[in-house]
Amino acid sequence: MDAVTLDKARNNVEKKGFLDIDLDPTLDLFAAIERLKKEKNAIVLAHYYQEPDIQDVADYIGDSLGLAQQAEKTESDMIVFAGVHFMAETAKILNPTKKVVIPDLKAGCSLSDSCPPPLFKKFKEQHPDHAVVSYINCSAGIKALSDVICTSSNARIIVESFPEDQPIIFAPDKNLGAYINKITGHNMLLWNGACMVHEIFSLEKITRLKVRHPNAKLIAHPECEEPVLRIADFIGSTTGLLKYTQSDNTQEYIVATETGILHQMMKASPDKTFIPAPPNNSCACNDCPHMKLNSLEKLYLCMEYETPEINMDEELRLAARKPIDRMLEISAKAGL
Ligand code: 13P
Ligand code: SF4
Repeated sequence: MDAVTLDKARNNVEKKGFLDIDLDPTLDLFAAIERLKKEKNAIVLAHYYQEPDIQDVADYIGDSLGLAQQAEKTESDMIVFAGVHFMAETAKILNPTKKVVIPDLKAGCSLSDSCPPPLFKKFKEQHPDHAVVSYINCSAGIKALSDVICTSSNARIIVESFPEDQPIIFAPDKNLGAYINKITGHNMLLWNGACMVHEIFSLEKITRLKVRHPNAKLIAHPECEEPVLRIADFIGSTTGLLKYTQSDNTQEYIVATETGILHQMMKASPDKTFIPAPPNNSCACNDCPHMKLNSLEKLYLCMEYETPEINMDEELRLAARKPIDRMLEISAKAGL
């Protein structure tokens, strides 16, 4: 492709969020991505909610904590982040000298969007004695206003690292916050945010499914609402849920989280049955529309043309890094 055409295509990234180039349909994308990894010394990090093809070409698939840890320690020159914006942004915060690209820049997160930094800043100012623990599903602006970041796999130990009488604001996920309040006995002040995917599960339909599958266990992500968590047999991060299905001896599971995780569950335990928990309407709402903006084609293009790229203001990056470092230190001490 000549420089002018590439420039035009790159300008298009600003409008559309991804590189819009017609690909030769005979191109073997799997082989092309492997070639680019070597040529560019690139690593592909993917979240479990990515489509199966992307998971299959990834060098590492993980939950938010695992992905942040991998991003921090990688020696590759380019991080190709197959996930949503806050995840790629976290990788850039941890690795400012590396190029971080994402297949679709518009892959956002409803939970992150529910907490705009200017509003949160005012909220925080109203509670000056409170420490701030923020779930990693937030923007760099929120991270910069936080004392420590957590993910669903370390939220409990992060919150328990504070003295019991320390008042805490937890943002942005009210469901994860309420769950952590319940299991730790803390009474954190919760920001009123939620994930559009995890709040869609229907308690009534799950209950009906459980009647039809009496031996199935319900496993749920802590971003689900309290009534679903209350009847769950196991609650955990995506990695936690996957590991549970590998070590547990049940044959059937109803899975209350985004459907992408089923790919690894079925690969790891081909003899077991995994039933996606049903949403409260007939849409495919348990597919995250943001995560699913990424595709294998876009992954290939972002590697080939090294765009869209994550770039950020250095002052903001430094402020957002502190609470992430604190999370990584506490997690490492706890053996996570
Ligand atoms: P984890 O993979 O860390 O459990 O997070 C789930 C999620 O919703 C990511 O957006
Ligand atoms: Fe955000 Fe929910 Fe999608 Fe995760 S599943 S990226 S929390 S909208």
